[in-house]
Amino acid sequence: MTNDLVNTEKRGNVAIISISNPPVNALGAGVRQGIADAIDKAEQDAETAAIVLSGEGRCFCGGADITEFGHPVVDPSLPEVIAKIEACSKPVVAALHGVSFGGGLELPLGCHFRIADASALVALPEVTLGLIPGAGGTQRLPRLIGVDKALDMILSGSPVGAEEALALGIIDELVDGDLLEAAVVFAAARAADNSPLKRASELEAPPPQVGYFEERREKIKRRARGLIAPGHCITSVENAVTLRFAEGLKKERQLFVECRESEQSAAQRHIFFATRAAAKIPDVPKGVAIPAIRSAAVIGGGTMGVGIAMTFADAGIAVTIVETSDQTLENGLSRIKQTCAGSVKRGRITDTAMTSCLNRVKGTLDVADIKDADIVIEAVFEDMDLKKEIFATLDKVCKPGAILATNTSTMDIDAIAAATARPDKVIGTHFFSPAHIMRLMENVRGAKSSPETIASVMALSKKLGKVGVLVGNADGFVGNRMYHKYTRQAYFLLDEGALPEQVDKVLYDFGFAMGPFAVGDISGLDVAWAVRQRQAATRPADERYSPVADKVCEQGRFGQKTGAGWYRYEDGSRAPIPDPEIEKIIVAVSEELGIQRRDIKDEEIRERCLYALINEGAKILDEGLALRSGDIDVIWINGYGFPIHRGGPMFTADRLGVRKVYDAVSKLYDSHGDVFKPAALLETLAREGRNFRDI
Ligand code: COA
Ligand code: NAD
Repeated sequence: MTNDLVNTEKRGNVAIISISNPPVNALGAGVRQGIADAIDKAEQDAETAAIVLSGEGRCFCGGADITEFGHPVVDPSLPEVIAKIEACSKPVVAALHGVSFGGGLELPLGCHFRIADASALVALPEVTLGLIPGAGGTQRLPRLIGVDKALDMILSGSPVGAEEALALGIIDELVDGDLLEAAVVFAAARAADNSPLKRASELEAPPPQVGYFEERREKIKRRARGLIAPGHCITSVENAVTLRFAEGLKKERQLFVECRESEQSAAQRHIFFATRAAAKIPDVPKGVAIPAIRSAAVIGGGTMGVGIAMTFADAGIAVTIVETSDQTLENGLSRIKQTCAGSVKRGRITDTAMTSCLNRVKGTLDVADIKDADIVIEAVFEDMDLKKEIFATLDKVCKPGAILATNTSTMDIDAIAAATARPDKVIGTHFFSPAHIMRLMENVRGAKSSPETIASVMALSKKLGKVGVLVGNADGFVGNRMYHKYTRQAYFLLDEGALPEQVDKVLYDFGFAMGPFAVGDISGLDVAWAVRQRQAATRPADERYSPVADKVCEQGRFGQKTGAGWYRYEDGSRAPIPDPEIEKIIVAVSEELGIQRRDIKDEEIRERCLYALINEGAKILDEGLALRSGDIDVIWINGYGFPIHRGGPMFTADRLGVRKVYDAVSKLYDSHGDVFKPAALLETLAREGRNFRDI
C-alpha cells in the first residue's frame, strides 16, 4: 500500500503500481504523489527488477483531474511525475485497458513500454476542453508515431482503438488473456534480457515537408473559428520537430497554462461538467429499473424520421419505419441509403459498417408490425389531431411495456399522452435536424411520465451518442422558446434599421455557427410562418410584433428550398447573397410601422440578441422548465450552434456579471417595453450578488 489512491503489490521481482481512484482514476494530487512515491520506492528496492503501471476498475485512467483546474496547482505536477517514470533505471511497463485519455495517455507515453488489451482506447482529448496536452503529449507522441498522425489525434481529440494503437506504434503489444499477468511477464522479460529502455523523449520526430504546419493551420481555421487551443496544439507539435525535447516541453507547459487560464477553457470545462450533470434527475432515483431498448420503431419517414432511424441503426438498434404509402416509404428508405453511401464516400464509415447499419433498418405500411418494439418515436406532421390518432393506435398495437415517444417540436405532451391508456409511458424525445448529426435530445417530461420512462429515455440518449437534457412541457420547451425570443429580437432590429446580413455577421463573429437569418433560410421559413398564423388569434393585442418575416413568406420566399428567403441563392449554390428585394420589404415594413430607420451598431445587435436569450432562460429556470442553468447551456451548445468556447447563454451571463446583465436588460425594458421585462430571477440574483450557477 502506498496511499489510498495508489496501491503497490509485488509479483516475483515485478512491482505493480495501480491507480485506484474511482470512477475513472483521474490524476489528482494524491494520485500523482502516490505514483511518484511508488516509483521512488521501486527504484530503490533491490528486489524489484521491473515495474508495471496499471489502473484498477473500469479503465487505466481518464486523465488529469479536471476539477483541479482553476485552483492553485499542487505539487508534484504531472510532467514531474512522468519525468520521474521516464528516468527510472528499471523497465516501466504501462498496462492499458478501457480508456487512457489525456494525462491518462501522457503517463504511459512516459513509460518505457506499453501493452494493452482489446478494450483499450487511447486519446488526447484536451482540445475539447480548450486545452493542449500539457504533460508531454505534444512532444512524446509525434516522436513516437510521427507528426501527422499525432496531430490528427491531438486536433480531433478522438479515441483510437487497441488495434490501431498497435499499428500506429502507441502500444508495443496487444494482449489476449489476463492483461496484468501478461504485463508482469513482459516487464520481467525486459528486465531479464536487459532490454534497452525506450524513452520517447530520446527519439527524433521526423520533420514533415516544408509548409506542412501552415497547411494544417489553414485547414482547421474554419472548424476551430475563434478557438485558441487548436492553434496552440499545432505550435506545440511543431516545437517537437524544431526544438530539443526539454525546450519543447517547457514551451508546451507555457501554452498549456495559457489555455488553462483562458475564459475559453473555463467555458468548455463548464460544458463538460454540465453535460454530465444534465444526466442526473433529482426525482428519478439512481437505481430505478431501466428496461433494455433493443428494438425501435419510427412513425413517419420524413426529414426527422429518417434521421432518427439512422441514429438507432448507427447505435446498433434495429428500427422499423412506418409510413402511409409505398412511395413515401421508398423515399425515406432511399434517403437513408444515399446518406450512408455519402458517409462511405467521405471515409466516415466502412462499406461493411454501412451494410450492417442498413440491415438494421426495415420499413412497413402496417403498424401491427411494430407490436414488439421497445420504443416508438412518432415523427409525423406537426398536427395535434393526427398525433392523437396515432398515439391511440400505438396504445392498442404496442406491447404494454413499450415507451411511446413524440418528436413534436411544439405540442403539448400531456394532450398527446391523454390519447393513450398509458400516459406514464409517454414522453417527448425532441431531436434536432439533421437528427443523425445533431447531438441534442431535448427529452420532454409529461405530467405523468414515470421515473422509469424518464430514466430509460435519458439512458437511451447516451446509448445513441446524444446528449439528453430533460425539460418541462411548455410551448417550445426550452430551446425553441428561447430561440423564438432571440429571432424576434433580430426581426425588431430589422424594423429599426438593420439588415439580415449585418445581424447575421455580428452573431457569426460572436461565434454562432450561423446567424438567425441564414439558419431560417436553411430550415425553411414556411414552418415558423404556419406556427405564427396559428398563434395569431391568441397573440395579445398589445404585444410588440414584427410582421417582417410574414411579408417575406408572402412573396413565396421560404429559404434555400425556393431559391430565395432572407437572401437569394444562385442555382445549385447554398451561398447566401444579400438581396435588394429584401431591403425593400424591410424598409416598407419600417414605414408601415412608423419607425424611423436608424444606424444600428453591432454592439446593440449582439447585446439585444444575447440578453433576450438570457432573460428568457432566467424565466424558464424560474418556472422550473429546466433543472439547472447548465442544462440550458448544454441545450444551446448542442442544438443551436452557440459557441462552445463561450459556454452557453447562462454561463455567459455569469461571466459578464448577473448585475451587469440585469442593468442592461432593465435599460432595454425602459426603451423597448415588455419584450424586455426583466425576469424575476435575474432581478433576485442581481440583488443578492449571486450567479445562475449558484441556484
Ligand atoms: N477529471 C475529473 N472528473 C472526471 C474526469 C476527469 N478527467 N473524467 C471523468 N470524470 C468524472 C465525470 O465528471 C463523472 O462524474 P459524475 O459521476 O460526478 O458525473 C464521472 O467521472 C464519470 O464520467 P462519465 O463521463 O460520466 O463516464 P464515462 O464512462 O461515460 O466516460 C471518460 C469516462 C473518462 C471517457 C470521460 O469521462 C472523459 O472523456 N473524461 C475526460 C477525459 C479528458 O478529457 N481528460 C483530459 C483532461 S485534461
Ligand atoms: P416531414 O413532413 O418531413 O415528414 C413527416 C412524415 O410523416 C411524412 O413522410 C409523412 O408521409 C409521414 N406521415 C404522415 N402521417 C403518417 C401516418 N399516419 N403514419 C405514418 N407516417 C405518416 O416532417 P418532419 O420535418 O420530419 O417533422 C416531423 C415531426 O418532427 C414534426 O412533429 C416536427 O414538428 C418535428 N420536428 C421537426 C424538425 C425539423 O427541423 N424538420 C425538428 C425537430 C422536430
